[in-house]
Amino acid sequence: MHKFDVVVIGAGAAGLFCAGIAGQRGLKVLVIDHSEKVAEKIRISGGGRANFTNKDVTPANFLSDNPHFCRSALSRYTPKDFTALMTRHGISFHEKHKGQLFCDRSAEDLITMLLAECATGNVTRWQPCSVKNIAFSASGAGSYTIDSSHGQINTPQIVVATGGLSIPKIGATDFGYRLAQQFGLRMVAPRPALVPLTFDNEAWAPYAHLSGLALPVQIEVGAKKTKTAFLEDLLFTHRGLSGPAVLQISSYWIEGTPIRLNLAPEVDLPPALARAKATSRKLIANELAQLVPSRLADAWAGQDPAWQKPIGDATDKALAQLAEKLARWELTPNGSEGYKKAEVTAGGVDTRDVSSQTMESKQPGLYFIGEVVDVTGWLGGYNFQWAWASGFACGQALSLSSPSPYAPN
Ligand code: FDA
Repeated sequence: MHKFDVVVIGAGAAGLFCAGIAGQRGLKVLVIDHSEKVAEKIRISGGGRANFTNKDVTPANFLSDNPHFCRSALSRYTPKDFTALMTRHGISFHEKHKGQLFCDRSAEDLITMLLAECATGNVTRWQPCSVKNIAFSASGAGSYTIDSSHGQINTPQIVVATGGLSIPKIGATDFGYRLAQQFGLRMVAPRPALVPLTFDNEAWAPYAHLSGLALPVQIEVGAKKTKTAFLEDLLFTHRGLSGPAVLQISSYWIEGTPIRLNLAPEVDLPPALARAKATSRKLIANELAQLVPSRLADAWAGQDPAWQKPIGDATDKALAQLAEKLARWELTPNGSEGYKKAEVTAGGVDTRDVSSQTMESKQPGLYFIGEVVDVTGWLGGYNFQWAWASGFACGQALSLSSPSPYAPN
């Protein structure tokens, strides 16, 4: 029987980070992962450069059934703490759009750093290693017996860092959710988030030829108090809509409800079209192409015979309707591209059953960190920041077996 102070299941962002912190505190840590490689999602993130955090992180950048849950961990481990760690490891980075921080060279640098942090501590890693069964014995202080492909392990503490369901082909599983349910913890139903949205073929046919077109838009769902809006880039695809605008809103979109788009958020269309009507003899599509991308202008003007004429001949009503159709395009997706394309999984282990201070669940000694928990960040580095912050809170809270032969002098 192998004995460890803590077993971390999942060698991804949260698991490796937490293991390094616990190992450096003197705990004897085992990390196991069923994949051969560590941290595949870090490797493929941010186009290979990992958008590893965001300069401006607040709880408002996260979705959860309990929006306050993430506050404590996020305040105790900030983006500045993580960038300071990167600087200590000599990893340079740069800011892109809206506070998003990326590695200058490669996401591999981040993985090397996480492994180096583990190597500084007392961390053993078994990969590939699968978990067949976990049993809890309440006798004494309580301990777990893990039946793994490397043999039986005894430990008083388990950290579940197995992530969500997105991208199954690189190792995502529902392990964490099943384990939570095995120990009677509640779940918030998982769903794909940060994902492209799709439309039924017939409804999408008039727009399919716009595939590849990208433009800034305002996108929103909901109404009044539930309204959520983003100003971001939209991308037309063969099957529907993608790009940062749609990925962001997809996390808030409820099946069967519409999304609304302003395709010209930076232009006040009615006066712009009225001015053109007074001075121009060009076709409406050509005038519109001064205000929005020309492919979009052609496609929109082509939708109604009243818009296929010189702008000087158009009625005020027709121009008002054209402006309205561009500024308030409402359409209802029939679904999303699903876990195959989703960057994250919303929902997960219900935070009502997890401590926001330590990430320990109501099941003694069983901790949940990272994406497996019902905390989902916006696009822009927020999900990695949650992995670091929740991993830190947990890594600090795990207890040393006393007396531990591994504690530093
Ligand atoms: P993570 O998924 O990183 O790790 C889970 C680990 O558990 C994996 O190593 C897996 O193999 C292992 N595991 C699963 N089941 C297991 C089992 N049954 N037994 C043993 N091990 C098991 N976020 C961000 O902030 N900035 C970005 O740029 C991006 N970009 C991005 C691109 C793409 C394509 C995707 C899919 C995702 C992103 N993300 C992102 C999201 C980010 O990658 C994600 O939120 C974090 O990796 C979550 O960290 P975790 O450690 O919780 O899970």
